Amino acid sequence: MSTQLSFHDHKPETLSFYDAVVTGLSNKTKAIPPKLFYDEKGSKLFDLICEQPEYYPPTVERQMLTTLADDIAALTGQSRVLIEPGVGNASKVRLIMDALRPSAFVPMDISFDYLKAVSTTLAKDYPWLPVHATCVDFTHSLPIPHEVPPGKRLVFFPGSSIGNFCKADALNFLNLIHDTVGEDGMLLIGVDTKKPEPVLHAAYNDAAGITAQFNLNLLHRMRDELDAQVDLNAFEHNAFYNAQAGRIEMHLVSQQRQELRINGHRFPFDKGESVHTENSYKYAPEEFLAFSAQSHFDHVAHWVDPQGLFAIYLLKAS
Ligand code: AVJ
Repeated sequence: MSTQLSFHDHKPETLSFYDAVVTGLSNKTKAIPPKLFYDEKGSKLFDLICEQPEYYPPTVERQMLTTLADDIAALTGQSRVLIEPGVGNASKVRLIMDALRPSAFVPMDISFDYLKAVSTTLAKDYPWLPVHATCVDFTHSLPIPHEVPPGKRLVFFPGSSIGNFCKADALNFLNLIHDTVGEDGMLLIGVDTKKPEPVLHAAYNDAAGITAQFNLNLLHRMRDELDAQVDLNAFEHNAFYNAQAGRIEMHLVSQQRQELRINGHRFPFDKGESVHTENSYKYAPEEFLAFSAQSHFDHVAHWVDPQGLFAIYLLKAS
């Protein structure tokens, strides 16, 4: 069988680090969007976070996908067009690829070079699979290349990445997926559950301090890339569960009254004032099902691991 591999570059606007930082620190409540975590160093630190025993989501989700692959395939049927926004290193989709046996795979990501490398390896490892790699900012659009064969579609969105979106953005994104899969389309999505606070707290405050390094890496980037005058020892990592909002919040907290300077901009900090760097929303299963129903997805099946740590949902566009 011949290998099919194509590349489609939609040239996504990559937010400049400088603009994002200056805008974010100028707000009354200082905040920096979590996408800025993922420079080369930050992506490596995130991979390390995924190896920490306290950070359960990747381990549990992987275990679930491995066990459930055949059950999922029985419900979706084989030969769907499989689309994965934010594919990263594509390690999770491999767990279900043989069971799902898609007619084509459309991996999407924002960094073209990395996407090319990952897709090329994937096409080699699955010689029967046409791969149509698409470089795009998936939060804005999910363009499907013309070569993609007709047929029922399935979007795969693992990793609880939806947790980074506020509720309104999450709904918009589910709507975008709904439009993309169309009639008979399905969505397979991994979402972190609500659970006792100590478990959540530990997951974002690992004993080895990797999550702290990941968070503080933003300040290192400011110093190294933007020539910021910033006292790296005067900020601390803080991650806590905000039960009211149903989310983990990550902050960089100023340990003293100080001023951070970037290229003539001055950003004063009170002692205890923070830069809000991430939200990670958690959903109880019934809550997520009600939520996805708002964007016209019907429940097909969902699975929660025995400890109630993580959930995987299979939904059908209605
Ligand atoms: C990649 C957004 C799913 O929210 O758990 C992990 C990112 N931040 N530890 C999450 C993250 C700190 C992660 N997501």
